[in-house]
Amino acid sequence: MGNGVAVIFLFSLLLARSFLAASADNFNQDVGVTWGDGRGQIFNGGNLISLTLDKISGSGFQSKNEYLFGRFDVQMKLVPRNSAGTVTTFYLSSDPSPTHDEIDLEFLGNLSGSPYTVHTNVYTQGKGNREQEFDLWFDPTKDFHTYSIIWNPQRIIIYVDYIPIRVFENEEAIGVPFAKSQPMRVYGTIWDGEQWATRGGQVKTDWSGAPFTAYYRNFNVQSANSVGNKPWLTRGITTKDRNWLRWAKRNHMIYNYCTDRNRHTPRPECHRRRKSRSL
Ligand SMILES: *[C@@H]1O[C@H](CO)[C@@H](O)[C@H](O)[C@H]1NC(C)=O
Repeated sequence: MGNGVAVIFLFSLLLARSFLAASADNFNQDVGVTWGDGRGQIFNGGNLISLTLDKISGSGFQSKNEYLFGRFDVQMKLVPRNSAGTVTTFYLSSDPSPTHDEIDLEFLGNLSGSPYTVHTNVYTQGKGNREQEFDLWFDPTKDFHTYSIIWNPQRIIIYVDYIPIRVFENEEAIGVPFAKSQPMRVYGTIWDGEQWATRGGQVKTDWSGAPFTAYYRNFNVQSANSVGNKPWLTRGITTKDRNWLRWAKRNHMIYNYCTDRNRHTPRPECHRRRKSRSL
């Protein structure tokens, strides 16, 4: 290669990289189907993944890279019709260990025509039990919808169609550990949760409807290594966000660990919130 050609070649590589960073990431490049023996498949040149669950196994993918903070977006279309017992997930987790960190979005299927539940949880230093559940205000099986996680040193924000539904603040000042030193991978999975998922395991999976398939597309990660601005890194909670959070809580929250007296002695971060009346 002549020098000039080499320079042009390098330049176009750089250009291609910045375009990639600005648009959707590519499943082929950024994730691997790691589980399910062929039940997870990548299509459309890497823009679409399907994950399938049958009576023998579920399936899943995970990102090749680990990220310390970032913004993580994906569009998902969930298992239609009778999906009771199925659990479809999009989550971040550090490597397995007794002190791992994790940020969960889990979609619990339901009987035909009944609402899906979005189950969210945050683990820090191996401790979870911070569930909040919401019902969705649309049918998540008809179309793709966008689910996002912003994770920065100050807070974790979970979004549905760009509407913030949950925020978990860094409350280290009052002794609550925060996820801030262990990098995490992105995961998507589908599995059978009939022992647990639908009304606490009362409704079992109807395997006559199997295989069950969920779709993921337009996966996008903005991390510390991405080119360009990083608005997510300092993303705070605006008045508008606060209004949306209140809206989600009033109209769509169906479970909140902060108010479950049967399960937990109230957590410090819950006290704080009530005191400041912020949420
Ligand atoms: C399923 O639908 C019922 C209402 O038909 C609702 O009470 C329940 O929370 C929904 N979600 C799950 C996971 O069972």
